[in-house]
Amino acid sequence: MEFFEVLRKRRSIRRFQDRPVPRELVDKLLESTFLAPSSYNKRPWHFIVVDDGEKLKALSKAKLGASGLATAPVAIVVTADETKSDVWIEDSSIVAEHIQLSAFALGLGAFWVQIRNRMHDETKSAEEYVREVLSIPENYRVLCIIGVGYPAEKKPPHGEEVFEWEKASHNTFGRPWKKR
Ligand SMILES: Cc1cc2nc3c(=O)[nH]c(=O)nc-3n(C[C@H](O)[C@H](O)[C@H](O)COP(=O)(O)O)c2cc1C
Repeated sequence: MEFFEVLRKRRSIRRFQDRPVPRELVDKLLESTFLAPSSYNKRPWHFIVVDDGEKLKALSKAKLGASGLATAPVAIVVTADETKSDVWIEDSSIVAEHIQLSAFALGLGAFWVQIRNRMHDETKSAEEYVREVLSIPENYRVLCIIGVGYPAEKKPPHGEEVFEWEKASHNTFGRPWKKR
């Protein structure tokens, strides 16, 4: 698929077919992360591929908005060593988007489950919860979980409504960029 077609067609897919994702495609998703840029090329990340049904079910309870992980055959948990980079959030966000876009280019569906700054319940953060489920060391922060699988829902590609040209300025904030 051509790159701009991937960008237009990528939508959040939260329901998945009961069909495993071939191991080679998971390898490709991981390859896409290793190709990502990072500040000072520090590459502070670590990924946990989860395909154990019980663990996926547990992750689907991490917080509100994670339930789609229960039908995902695989999820990639994006973590980074905060002692290695002060901009681990930016570095990890880029890899998470690489995973989402690569999934679409490979004919899969994917969605982002935000973990950082979200709560599991009144007392426990979603990050602590995920850390416990997957035995993640203290210095590794959990940004998000990308659920991946063959789509069981269809969504239209992004249309003209997302092109908010008024959000682009030219040389000075608020001076409209004129699209050709
Ligand atoms: C930082 C971030 C956090 C998100 N968190 C969640 C989430 O916790 N659960 C979820 O179902 N979708 C989540 N999403 C997906 C957004 O809801 C989705 O991208 C947005 O509604 C636009 O729809 P689209 O992806 O189909 O274009 C998140 C997306 C981003 C970028």
